Amino acid sequence: MPLVTTKKMFQMAYKNGYAIGAFNVNNMEITQGIVDAIVEEQAPLILQISKGAREYAKMSYLRAIIDVAVKENPQIPICMHLDHGDTFELCRQCVDDGFTSVMIDASHQSFEDNVKLTKEVVKYAHAHGVVVEAELGQLGGIEEHVKGVEDVSAHLTDPNQVKEFVEKTGCDSLAVAIGTSHGAYKFKAAPKLAFDVVEKVSKLLPGYPLVMHGSSSVLQEFKDLINKYGGKMPDAMGVPEDAITRASKMAVCKVNIDTDLRMALTAKIRQVFAEKPGEFDPRKYLGPGREAIKKMVKHKLQILGCAGKAGECK
Ligand code: G3H
Ligand code: 13P
Ligand code: ZN
Repeated sequence: MPLVTTKKMFQMAYKNGYAIGAFNVNNMEITQGIVDAIVEEQAPLILQISKGAREYAKMSYLRAIIDVAVKENPQIPICMHLDHGDTFELCRQCVDDGFTSVMIDASHQSFEDNVKLTKEVVKYAHAHGVVVEAELGQLGGIEEHVKGVEDVSAHLTDPNQVKEFVEKTGCDSLAVAIGTSHGAYKFKAAPKLAFDVVEKVSKLLPGYPLVMHGSSSVLQEFKDLINKYGGKMPDAMGVPEDAITRASKMAVCKVNIDTDLRMALTAKIRQVFAEKPGEFDPRKYLGPGREAIKKMVKHKLQILGCAGKAGECK
């Protein structure tokens, strides 16, 4: 089957209480590791590409790699999604490049400007059969913003604004800020997420799919390997996996993971270099990295509950 949108995936994920993994890809090995895992687990897949990934790998190369994944695995629904598009022009370019889903992230703008830009992207994307993810609220660990209760909620998504935003823009899914943040340093104290925001949105907009960014768990195994073999990430901390599972059973239908891929690859490369200082064949360190990604993604699919769901998402 050709690339698909997230429509059916989100319908099934919402109805059956799981979430789809959205994995960032930047090169061939990362993509292969993810796809190998997906195929073994028969899970639906969102491959997402950031502006930085487009620039680093060149879109034509990434597209060719993804085309192979699609062609070789016709039983797996695969969506190609733009992660954090920041302008109409970039979103338009991605629609024209054959993406089946784009994100317009105008979350740092005022509510009115966010609505205006998102609406423009939705108009263009929908006219070309492409779905749109938008964002409302600002990502960042809850404690980063804690100066008082009002201060916390000022950064989190306001559930009361969600309905108006979705109705005004027509966006197909919405990334909400519930206390997660990008990267490997998400919390300085015990992780805390605002599940009440998800719950309130699902009451106000039943059936509407939400997206969780900044959802890597910073797995102990890779953190330990990185620190053991010359890296320095002692205070790295991610979203606990039970919180991911909890969100996946609620209205969260898409869970974004990039940092865990980066850490898996980095850990294995560091390990090979430390154990074999004379190694200079890229296949000998990228290969173990790709294998670690595969194993890690297989595990994530269980956490998300989407293993075995490829068939029903087609
Ligand atoms: O949300 C951020 C993703 O991890 C992509 O990161 O912009 O460095 O490619 P990037
Ligand atoms: P992590 O940094 O937690 O992997 O989040 C990735 C993400 O949200 C991509 O949009
Ligand atoms: Zn993100």
